[in-house]
Amino acid sequence: MTSMSQKPLAIVILAAGKGTRMKSPQGNSLPKVMHELAGKPMINWLLDTAQSLSPEKIITVIGPDMDDLADAVAPHETVIQETRNGTGGALKCALPALKAFKGDVLVLLGDAPLITKQTLETLITARAGNPASLLGCTLENPTGYGRLVTDSADNLLEIVEEKDANQDQKSITLVNTGAFCLDAQNLENWCTRLTDDNAQKEYYITQIPALVREDGGFTSVAITNDEAEMLGCNTHADLAVLEKHIQHRLRKSHMENGVSMRDPETVYLWHDSKIGAGTTIEPNVVLGPKVSIAENVTIKAFSHIEETSIAAGASIGPFARLRGGNTLAENTKIGNFVELKNAKLAKGTKANHLTYLGDATIGENTNIGAGTITCNYNGFEKNKTIIGDNVFIGSNSALVAPITINNGAMVAAGSTITRDVESDSLAIARADEKSKPGWAAKFRKLKSKK
Ligand code: UD1
Ligand code: CA
Repeated sequence: MTSMSQKPLAIVILAAGKGTRMKSPQGNSLPKVMHELAGKPMINWLLDTAQSLSPEKIITVIGPDMDDLADAVAPHETVIQETRNGTGGALKCALPALKAFKGDVLVLLGDAPLITKQTLETLITARAGNPASLLGCTLENPTGYGRLVTDSADNLLEIVEEKDANQDQKSITLVNTGAFCLDAQNLENWCTRLTDDNAQKEYYITQIPALVREDGGFTSVAITNDEAEMLGCNTHADLAVLEKHIQHRLRKSHMENGVSMRDPETVYLWHDSKIGAGTTIEPNVVLGPKVSIAENVTIKAFSHIEETSIAAGASIGPFARLRGGNTLAENTKIGNFVELKNAKLAKGTKANHLTYLGDATIGENTNIGAGTITCNYNGFEKNKTIIGDNVFIGSNSALVAPITINNGAMVAAGSTITRDVESDSLAIARADEKSKPGWAAKFRKLKSKK
């Protein structure tokens, strides 16, 4: 709960746009706000921020045939804007859902997900006694944005959209970010008075400040100086810019929690990445979904990790690839060019070089030699490899699953193991070595005569 004197709050998110400029392939038209940032749909980032304000309700205005979007915002309600006739038209669609509501109505643009809780609180506070407030920002290049036309005392008179602006108005650098705070009791009145006599023949929410003036009131303007917060998304290039900002925020928050990153700009995180204090992430590391890293772990350069849980003191990489379903216990070591999939390694176990461990459960303090491969797939099904505690697997061994190597056993280098190995025994499965004394010298002599 915030300390400001709070009126009841409802939030309306406008997200009916199809996002045609994202150029999704036909038959797979992902609504714009469903595009992901750090693995989470844009709309859900905004929704999280909206929720942090503890509103009474959050209503999202969506287009027809956007069931996935409705699911993404559930259990919050959605209303459908049948014809895309502008941001004012979209707001109008939310009216029935706000019928009995009295208080502040915060209107947000679904494709501008970086806005922060603090900024929204400033916007709400700024409304004070006025019927409306909006969030403005000064931009060096205001092209494309609605311009805030003010009088000599800086009172907002009206907003003029880019396509309706004359040359003088186009030179205004104070723009509308798109976020409004509106008094619920005027909403219906304003919505019915909106007109579409503008360049786009649309009903603009941005006509509201002019209506407020007609009624003798003012719309207050809260200013954000953080340009990133107002960034919208129309194209994949915009999406990449948003991603950059989200990644920056994620890294910053992990570092504030005690995670060390040598070159943060090169570390890519997922929205749900968990990383413990005292852990170091070296350059060029990618964390995919569901990664949980405990304290004092080292993730060395160029490692790619998904759906894996890593306990304290472990060391991963460089150049490790951890695919899904891995659990690595305390002080395990995974070295270069090692790939894991559904592998469980108990305390102190090491696989340091050039290895594939798939569908494998491995005990404590076991050493997996360089070039060990669990042959877990026979072309039809996946089979399990079970390796005990204190086992030594020699280099370049193939373990053909299903197979069990019991505690304390050793596998000789270069073996292809197809039968279970008993505790404390040595398994060796390779051609016998023969030595022919003097053969090499004779061979060289023969060759050099020619
Ligand atoms: C809008 C503002 C502009 C502001 C800019 C900030 C208007 C008329 N203009 O312009 O002043 O500077 O945002 O980014 O409001 N939407 C609907 N239904 C519609 C139309 C739009 O739900 O019929 C949604 C879109 O999905 C989008 C948002 O409203 O999330 C903004 O619409 P968009 O067309 O991108 O507005 P801009 O032209 O960017
Ligand atoms: Ca936009």
